[in-house]
Amino acid sequence: MRVIVEKNGQEVSRRAAKFFDELVRNKPNCVLGLATGSTPLGVYQEMIRMHREENLDFSLVTTFNLDEYVGLEPTHPQSYRYFMQTNLFDHINVDPWKTHVPDGMVADFESACRAYEHHIVDAGGIDLQLLGIGSDGHIAFNEPGSSLGSRTRLKTLASETVRDNARFFQNEEEVPRLAVTVGVGTILEARRCILLAIGEAKADAIRATVEGPVTAQITASALQLHREVIVIVDEGAASKLARREYYDEVEKSMLLMEAKKRLPGATRR
Ligand code: GLP
Repeated sequence: MRVIVEKNGQEVSRRAAKFFDELVRNKPNCVLGLATGSTPLGVYQEMIRMHREENLDFSLVTTFNLDEYVGLEPTHPQSYRYFMQTNLFDHINVDPWKTHVPDGMVADFESACRAYEHHIVDAGGIDLQLLGIGSDGHIAFNEPGSSLGSRTRLKTLASETVRDNARFFQNEEEVPRLAVTVGVGTILEARRCILLAIGEAKADAIRATVEGPVTAQITASALQLHREVIVIVDEGAASKLARREYYDEVEKSMLLMEAKKRLPGATRR
């Protein structure tokens, strides 16, 4: 895992957006895995800015979102489809037919979940997966205890998640108890993952994810098994990392190496 600590949330978003910028420019028909929640909002704002001011072109990009609440229409203001439309898709030139969010209103979830997995494979697999993290260490809606090999399916939300997400609804009662979510196994198949966390409330989850054992009790810890994960956190979310100095050292060397690569003639050596 590459761990990058930035000084605040804005820098976290900028840093993450750069990875997307690089990918979309190098592979215009790439497949992006996208996430919801308050954490990725800054990344989406930065993508919109890059589209408007720097001609970042999303016309050939395909996207797959991680999850959706069961029982919410796509037009419901708290549905994740609505979130993606209003916070990203409506402001960039992505082809609406190439954006995918699991459907929380289907009659047959089993076949819809299977179809979602097939769609991802048919599109060529996810090149870059953006992830936030729940305070209980979940990724997407893979709550503690989820199989680390899980695929897209229905999942009951943990009470901690219902409490956390109640801030977006009128009250806790309104938060759906069920969600359709890609599995940990689905996420691990992405070619590269970027996990973001902002604020001290995520410090325990980040410590457990990066430095704890791999366990289904903290589903984000399964990312330790992935060969290309970049964790980008602010000072607050990094505040409980025991090996912070080491990550800073590694980062310095990475930046030096990247700068060297950009020198003229570097590819010939
Ligand atoms: C929800 C989403 C997750 C997200 C988490 C954290 O549970 N399903 O994908 O990572 O919220 O949200 P936030 O970024 O608002 O803290």
